[in-house]
Amino acid sequence: MPLIVSFVSQKGGVGKSTLARALAAVGATGKLKVKLADLDIQQQTAVRWGKARKQRASASYVEVGAFRSFEDALDDSEAFDLIIVDMPGHTSPSTGRVARASHVVVVPTSPTIDDLYPTVLLLHALEEIGITRSRLAVVLCRVLEPSEEKIARDYIDAAGYELLPGFVPERANYRSAQNRGQAITETIDGSENESADLLIESLLRKIAGQSAGMQNGKGD
Ligand SMILES: Nc1ncnc2c1ncn2[C@@H]1O[C@H](COP(=O)(O)OP(=O)(O)O)[C@@H](O)[C@H]1O
Ligand SMILES: [Mg+2]
Repeated sequence: MPLIVSFVSQKGGVGKSTLARALAAVGATGKLKVKLADLDIQQQTAVRWGKARKQRASASYVEVGAFRSFEDALDDSEAFDLIIVDMPGHTSPSTGRVARASHVVVVPTSPTIDDLYPTVLLLHALEEIGITRSRLAVVLCRVLEPSEEKIARDYIDAAGYELLPGFVPERANYRSAQNRGQAITETIDGSENESADLLIESLLRKIAGQSAGMQNGKGD
């Protein structure tokens, strides 16, 4: 069975698609068979990114598709090691189905209170439908100044959830990389790639821990 990792939020623009692509690119570079499933069928942003990526001979291969439903996205799931579900910028009944099926539910947030507040509301809502805290990972994206990290860490800690180590700063190179079908770990700037890599590594550790726990029957 493949690992399933979903990216959800109540708001758009917090970095779901950006982080989903980065996890896909890093996973595929590590020789995993990766499928990136975009559940925002109207925008098709992941599909366009996938087409641009295919033009780049050196880019690791990620199978990308847009799907009307989570169940459609799982159709050929046995062919993959890792299925990454990129959800639309609002919650819906399918959010619960996706979250329940996920080894890790990633909730990206920016460090503004305007984004942190709905992030915590969503985390509470996910817990209420049975997703335990250990399966929830908050990741910090779009940080303009390092001092913003502390604000976000204090806020998420106070709410009792896990903010993964590291963060993604706000950078123009991340946008241009994505415009070219690359990920934020594949920019022209080594230190920006490293910031993105460190965050994706924390996420991979979290996924590995959850997967091991679930296999041993300890996970939830
Ligand atoms: N760290 C960042 N630095 C610069 N631009 C970013 C960063 N993260 C996201 N963006 C840009 O912000 C926009 C929204 O990000 P996206 O990942 O699509 O959010 P979501 O999927 O949550 O709606 C996109 O145009 C993306 O390229
Ligand atoms: Mg998106």
